Amino acid sequence: MKPYHPMPTDAQQLLPVEAYTDQSWFDREQSDLFGRGWSFVCLTSDIAAPGDYAAIRAGRHSLVVMRTRDGSITAFHNLCRHRGTELFEPGRGSTGNMVVCPYHRWTYDLDGGLRGVPDQANCFPGLDKSSLALKPATHGIHKDMIFVHPSPDPAETFETWIADLPNWPHSFCDGSLKESPRELVYEMNCNWKVFYENAIDGYHLAYLHENTLGGPPVEQNVWDAHGRHLAWYSTQTGRKTATPTFITEALSQTDTPTIPNAVGGAFPGVIMLFPTTILTPSPYSISLSILEPLAPDLTLLRVRLWSPNGGAGRYQSLDSGPDLPGLDPDDGRIKLSKMDRPILEYARETGDFQMEDMWICEKMQRALASPAYEVSQLANGAGAEAPLTFFQRNVLDFVEDRVS
Ligand code: FES
Ligand SMILES: [Fe+2]
Repeated sequence: MKPYHPMPTDAQQLLPVEAYTDQSWFDREQSDLFGRGWSFVCLTSDIAAPGDYAAIRAGRHSLVVMRTRDGSITAFHNLCRHRGTELFEPGRGSTGNMVVCPYHRWTYDLDGGLRGVPDQANCFPGLDKSSLALKPATHGIHKDMIFVHPSPDPAETFETWIADLPNWPHSFCDGSLKESPRELVYEMNCNWKVFYENAIDGYHLAYLHENTLGGPPVEQNVWDAHGRHLAWYSTQTGRKTATPTFITEALSQTDTPTIPNAVGGAFPGVIMLFPTTILTPSPYSISLSILEPLAPDLTLLRVRLWSPNGGAGRYQSLDSGPDLPGLDPDDGRIKLSKMDRPILEYARETGDFQMEDMWICEKMQRALASPAYEVSQLANGAGAEAPLTFFQRNVLDFVEDRVS
């Protein structure tokens, strides 16, 4: 495997416009990036009991992780060994004490071994069941998060891919934090990389988010490279901290509860796990977000949040259901098109910078469709737009037909 890239000193746009707009690029990413890398599946506590499972799509692969009878976790392809039917619908659930294919009811043990075949004597004389276990995938666990890779023997091992990520003090599963009662799902009319690149663009913080995050300016924040991943810090106080000063000061005026062992800690405020997992630890909460590319110009962002009381800051009213700004009651997704007031005005009043980001990402996607679209230059600096170049190099590592 090639060595990982350093943070570039020369920021430049490496991906062509088609990478953000064309179905052929999207298809290549499905097979060559998401189908050949590590994907977040769920937390260990999401599949706590034997028979609990979580099924996902990883590019063109359909994968499942399972809690087995002895309490261990295993991963396999979500395909029956008879004629290949998908066993589990994407999502989480419990399959009881065995896996049953819905088509002809072949049954498997929780560890994937083939157990039963209806009418075996008549239909499959001489069948060697021991050779027809579910096809193995590989899983890895880091701080309660389970990731899966479609290959039983990944070229990029989990230990290599997870790299030397910096630590953070929050725990998802030890009971010290409570999860918010609902996952938020944002539907964004943009390519997944437009959102990812916006998230790692330190240049826009002081401008687009002047009235919400309030910066910091480029020389007061930094992205550090860790393998393929990126970790963001504010350096406004002269040392690396998780939150911009503006936010710390604003929240200190409120009664937002803090996480004692996270107050004052020198951990990152954003961790971008390549390619689609985003962690945002802070003294008040930690969120775990997953990007789900649906089409070249359509992406879901699924956000789960943990905090001392199960709600934090602007998330406090999350359980208020229909009042959630932008919520489409038909599918439960938050959309800019469902906002009943100007986005920037709403963001200024509530501090909801995610809506500012969505707004700018959808504007970028519309711009990308123009034949006159071009990027002149990127802003140099690890606290500016050099992380975009870093990210694009990592995408190109997988999607090899580079267009120069
Ligand atoms: S495809 Fe699963 S039992 Fe036939
Ligand atoms: Fe932003």
